[in-house]
Amino acid sequence: MKVLVADGVSQKAVDILQKNFDVVIKDKLPAEELLEIIPEFDGVIVRSASKITKEVIDKAANLKVIGRAGVGTDNIDIPAATERGIIVLNAPEGNTIAATEHTMAMMLSMSRMIPIANETLHKGEWNRKKYVGVELRGKTLGVIGLGRIGSGVAKRAMSFDMKIIAYDPYLNEDRAQALGVKIGTLDDVVKNADFITVHMPLTPQTKNMLNKDNIAKMKKGIRLVNCARGGIINEQDLADGLKSGQIAAAAIDVFTSEPLAQDNPLASAPNIVLTPHLGASTVEAQIGVAIDASNGVAAALKGEPVSTA
Ligand code: MLT
Repeated sequence: MKVLVADGVSQKAVDILQKNFDVVIKDKLPAEELLEIIPEFDGVIVRSASKITKEVIDKAANLKVIGRAGVGTDNIDIPAATERGIIVLNAPEGNTIAATEHTMAMMLSMSRMIPIANETLHKGEWNRKKYVGVELRGKTLGVIGLGRIGSGVAKRAMSFDMKIIAYDPYLNEDRAQALGVKIGTLDDVVKNADFITVHMPLTPQTKNMLNKDNIAKMKKGIRLVNCARGGIINEQDLADGLKSGQIAAAAIDVFTSEPLAQDNPLASAPNIVLTPHLGASTVEAQIGVAIDASNGVAAALKGEPVSTA
């Protein structure tokens, strides 16, 4: 059987597949080429760059399994795959720590203006007065989505003496107590937090979850972080909030359209730290998710039981 590794993954993961299958590795595979070659493959592994659309699935005559080396499956048309009986699996655990640590790094970078201080110092400007930050200690962090990553962020933020208020429709009081966080409605988080970080998948329910209406209800000078998925915070409303000063600063790793287009309102917004979807980009995470996805694809092709996305 043949497996396509469409977005380039760790060699350790390729080794797992090569033990049993004929493996073709492509990095940055153009959409047209994917459409052309997909009929010959029984399995495919993607990161976030390759889009497994209905059009791709319709052409994938032999495809039995799609493995996502990462958490988010928004680049895969799961209903179309399911209709064809194609298994879709992801790697939900391998990049948890990477995404959690990146969120903390973004929150700290934003609070102490490290990127701009670094950039201007490299240009020869010694600007101690201009870059006076704020502390995390004593501030309330609103965590929207308290799954693996959200609860990891909450735990680390507590070690910085932050208070946590969380909104998660699937969170019960016992789990909240075990984690040491207060639970509230979205409105409670919006009104009481000094910082808000989002950790939910992008769905019709979470799209634009933070928007001009609830940004207006936030404390003036709120700081927002999004290392989950672009569009959970409405990009235009975020840029407007930064311009008006309602939002003091933001740290954003993910965008509605990636790579970030220069006409995206966030590209020119003030007081914003941007990274190019680096949440899962650690050596350890990339090995972890690729191995998990490869093991899953190999098991599915051998007819063994697998957990689907
Ligand atoms: C994920 O969903 O696993 C992360 O956002 C990283 C990625 O998309 O590769």
